Amino acid sequence: MSRTGRKLDHIHHALTLNSKRSTGLDDIQFVHNSIPDLSVRDISLNTKIGELTLSSPIFINAMTGGGGSKTVEINRCLARVAKECQLAMALGSQMAAIKDKNEIQSYRVVREENPNGIILANLGSEATLDEAKQAIEMVDANALQIHLNVIQELTMPEGDRHFTGTLNRIEMIVKNLQVPVIIKEVGFGMSCETARQLKNIGISIFDVGGFGGTNFAEIENLRRGKPLTFFNEWGIPTAASIVEVCSVNPEAVIASGGLKESIDIAKSIALGASACGLAGQLLKVLMIKGVEGVIQEVKTIESELKIIMAALGTKTIEELKQVPLVISGSTYHWLEQRGIE
Ligand code: FNR
Repeated sequence: MSRTGRKLDHIHHALTLNSKRSTGLDDIQFVHNSIPDLSVRDISLNTKIGELTLSSPIFINAMTGGGGSKTVEINRCLARVAKECQLAMALGSQMAAIKDKNEIQSYRVVREENPNGIILANLGSEATLDEAKQAIEMVDANALQIHLNVIQELTMPEGDRHFTGTLNRIEMIVKNLQVPVIIKEVGFGMSCETARQLKNIGISIFDVGGFGGTNFAEIENLRRGKPLTFFNEWGIPTAASIVEVCSVNPEAVIASGGLKESIDIAKSIALGASACGLAGQLLKVLMIKGVEGVIQEVKTIESELKIIMAALGTKTIEELKQVPLVISGSTYHWLEQRGIE
C-alpha cells in the first residue's frame, strides 16, 4: 500500500477503534486540600518545555500530513484551532514530503494558517541531519519532534526491520540543530532506561507517548492478515511512563497517550509533566464537531483545569507539579517493582 493510503487508513482506524485499555491515570488520586489560599483569577496555565514558552500546557500532538487533499484539510483545521487557542501544534511525520515534494503543501498549510504559532516539525528516528534541517525549514518550525515507533514498524508487514544506528543519528541531529529537539514515543511509553540513553546523547525534552490511548499495534493489526495480537497489550501505561521519564529528566517531560479530559491533564502534570499532548481525542472531536467543536473542547479543558488547580491551591503549573498524590493499583505495583519514586 502507498504511504498516502496508509496515512488515510491510520486516520480511519484511529477514529473508529474504541480501545478500553488503561493509561493508569485512574490509579492516581489527589489529596484534598480544604484551605486553598487563592482566587481562580490568579491561576496561570503558562508553562515551559525547555526553551519553549507555552501559554497552555495542552498542545496538539503529531498526527497527519502527506496523505493528499484530506490531510491538507485536517491540518488546516487543526492549525485554526491552534491559532485560536494559542496552542503549540506538532505536524505528522514529514518524511512523506521529503520523499515527494507534492506533499509539502499538507504541512505548509499549518504555517500559512498560523504564521506566528509554535509549530513542531516531526520525523522518525531513521531521519538524517539533512532531512531534519529540511523538515524544519519546510514550515519554519520552532522545534523538532523525533518519534520512536519500533512496535508500529514491527507490526506492519511492510515496516522497517533494521533498527541499528538510532542513537547515533539522533545525537547527530540534536548536536547540530539550532532548534530544540523533542524525542517522542507514539503510544508504547518510554522507560527510564531509554530516557537515560537519550539524555546521555544530549536530549533534554521527552514526550512519553504512553500506552492507553491511540494504539498503533491494534491499528496495524487490523491491516494485517495474521495479526501480532501480543503487541496489542504491549507498552508502558502513560501514568507509569511519566514517572519513569521524570526520574531521569524532571525538568522537561511531556505527557501524552490517551489524554482526553481536564482531570487526565491535571494528574499528568501532578506526576511531573510540564505539558500534555493530545492527538486521537482532538481528531475525533474534529471529525464530529468541526473546528468550532475542538476550540470549545480545548476551552472547556482549560477552564476545568483552572478549577482543579483552584481546588488544589496551586496557582501555576510548577506548583501543580508538586502536589501530594496517592498512587494505587497497577501503577503502584509497576513503580514499586521498578524502584522508581
Ligand atoms: C499519530 N501519531 C504520530 N506521531 C508521530 O510522531 N508522527 C506521526 O506521523 C504520527 N501520526 C499519527 C497519526 C494519527 C492518525 C494519530 C491518531 C496519531 C501519534 C501521536 O502523536 C501520539 O503519540 C499517539 O497517538 C498517542 O496519543 P493519543 O492519540 O492517545 O492522544
